[in-house]
Amino acid sequence: KGKRAFIAGVADDNGYGWAIAKSLAAAGAEILVGTWVPALNIFESSLHRGKFDESRRLQDGSLMEITKVYPLDAVYDNPEDVPEDVKTNKRYAGASNWTVQEVAESVKKDFGTIDILVHSLANGPEVSKPLSETSRKGYLAALSASSYSYISLLKHFLPIMNQGGSAVSLTYIASERIIPGYGGGMSSAKAALESDTKVLAFEAGRKKRIRVNTISAGPLGSRAAKAIGFIDMMIDYSFTNAPLQKELCAEEVGNTAAFLASPLASAITGAVIYVDNGLNAMGVGV
Ligand code: NAI
Repeated sequence: KGKRAFIAGVADDNGYGWAIAKSLAAAGAEILVGTWVPALNIFESSLHRGKFDESRRLQDGSLMEITKVYPLDAVYDNPEDVPEDVKTNKRYAGASNWTVQEVAESVKKDFGTIDILVHSLANGPEVSKPLSETSRKGYLAALSASSYSYISLLKHFLPIMNQGGSAVSLTYIASERIIPGYGGGMSSAKAALESDTKVLAFEAGRKKRIRVNTISAGPLGSRAAKAIGFIDMMIDYSFTNAPLQKELCAEEVGNTAAFLASPLASAITGAVIYVDNGLNAMGVGV
């Protein structure tokens, strides 16, 4: 029987979430995605109008099918958490059941269980501010959207995950090395995500033999990365300095996620896996 994956953080065909969906689909998984509520309409209409058809194409010529798109805002765990101004915001009012708990309930109702959970989302409202100039509010918002969101997803999806399943998230080396420009507490958020990956691997492993890993990905010109503003420089830097002097393709990250979700990775859990052309191993730029 094929596996079923829920991928949180897909809103276009440029990011890592999309690439992971494709690699999992190519490996035979059924694909469900969670799309940030404000991006839902444009994503769904583009999908239905065929705007992504070229990038839906898999190696065997077929097109990736997304069985269902769920609206999701991973900053809210249940309806009681949602402030009035968000509830009545017109970008949110059109959608329903988009808190983490409600999405997990909807997936359970629609499909019963999943095997693979992917967290491919991050948000840091003050990312362009240096850490030392970040407000408390901005810092906590970065942690809420980028780190706690993974705990919340796992907490709510664990009960419907099949024994032996796999969870994976995306992190960035700014958690452990200084990357000027990755501010607003986003470096802290990634450090929390990596630490949490270990503790969650223990808890989910003991509970249901579910493996929990994170991929430390190299730079990609996604929508989120472009919003930070220094992505082209990071891509150039990586090309110049990494052991492998080639473009990093989102597909390479997607394939690693598919590997981690597969039985080939049956003893890998609590790990940070670098998919960055080896840049993390360099001590100095050359
Ligand atoms: P992306 O723009 O494709 O993905 C980020 C997604 O997060 C978007 O779809 C956005 O709508 C969604 N999102 C933001 N706030 C949300 C919320 N509250 N609830 C639900 N969804 C929300 O960009 P990208 O770069 O592919 O990001 C995916 C992951 O990869 C992130 O965790 C990012 O930090 C990580 N990453 C990205 C790198 C890069 O250079 N692009 C490098 C290393 C890691």
